[in-house]
Amino acid sequence: MRLENDLLLRAARGEKTERPPVWVMRQAGRILAEYRATRAQAGSFIGLVKNPQLAAEVTVQPVDILGVDAAIIFSDILVIPEAMGLPYQMDEGKGPFFPKTIQNLKDVENLDLSNINNHLTYVSEAIEATLHKLQGRVPLIGFAGAPWTIFCYMIEGKGSKEFSLARKMLVQQPMLAESLLTKITDATIAYLQSQIKAGIHLFQLFDSWAGVLNAELYQTMIIPHVSRILSSAPPHIPTTFFAKGAHYAAKSIQTLNCNVIGLDWTMDPAWAKNQFPNKTLQGNLDPAVLYGTDETIRTSTEKLLSEFGEHPYIANLGHGVYPDIDPKKLKIFIETIQKS
Ligand code: CP3
Repeated sequence: MRLENDLLLRAARGEKTERPPVWVMRQAGRILAEYRATRAQAGSFIGLVKNPQLAAEVTVQPVDILGVDAAIIFSDILVIPEAMGLPYQMDEGKGPFFPKTIQNLKDVENLDLSNINNHLTYVSEAIEATLHKLQGRVPLIGFAGAPWTIFCYMIEGKGSKEFSLARKMLVQQPMLAESLLTKITDATIAYLQSQIKAGIHLFQLFDSWAGVLNAELYQTMIIPHVSRILSSAPPHIPTTFFAKGAHYAAKSIQTLNCNVIGLDWTMDPAWAKNQFPNKTLQGNLDPAVLYGTDETIRTSTEKLLSEFGEHPYIANLGHGVYPDIDPKKLKIFIETIQKS
């Protein structure tokens, strides 16, 4: 189906656009009362992720309510460990928790890769249901967690400030770490193929915990896996890599075969244009700016637009929108971009 609004895809390919496209990480989520109502109907967060009709409904809500230029499929990066045999729980206010984690070679060997996409048919069905609801209004973004971020959760079993257990494994048991990272990468490539088959228009890889590593480890142990995933996307599917906090790894990130680099809010646009001259840039308004007055939101957004200037650009926040942000404030950000 032809897209009515394909700004996102043109900007991702580095083409000049009338104005930058805008979407928001975590646009489908607790900030919307409509999301909270649908989640209650599903019974739980995981119940919602696994219900294709309801997942499609919350995926489309921000397009209808906020008017963003793209939808992102409602799911979670943690569906991959679950499909490999490590189920997760999501307790309100506590974040993810894995009752079982990876400790040794036997645990890695027990991970089952044979049926990844059978375990994830609910995601393909949610993508198909979403495309049906969107009727070509805007592109649909698919996504997955990057190998390092998924590795962190599989080793630690929950969020952490510094993921020292995961880093300990990279340092003390590099062979074991490598075999786990390889399994995660293989699963993610299969998952990406199934999302493409279901109809996504662009794919984003989230390395949310990239910031805790160092340049040497990131380049030698992580980049090869990221590179393999991004290179597995066919040319007609643009790709975005978002490595939060990875200033230190800019040199190796620049070599990746992807169209778009996501920037967190601590990254300076002028620095980013210089580091990534041949990539589209995405980001990076500080999500906390949305706690400010309407006027400061407008001024900060206009400043962002002028800083990215003529560089191919996709407007977004520098990380997910905080759940206690008033959707009206988010709308000011979105409308400021769309009026530019
Ligand atoms: O709108 C969208 O952006 C699409 C949906 C989406 C979710 N998770 C839904 C979600 C996406 C793209 C993700 C990715 C994800 N999940 C990441 C990478 C992006 C990032 O934030 O760095 C990570 C690290 C996760 C793991 C995860 N899932 C955490 C740490 C949490 C708890 C956070 C919290 O606010 O409680 C989740 C839960 C989660 N995933 C929620 C949503 C909307 C919040 C739970 C809820 O609203 O019911």
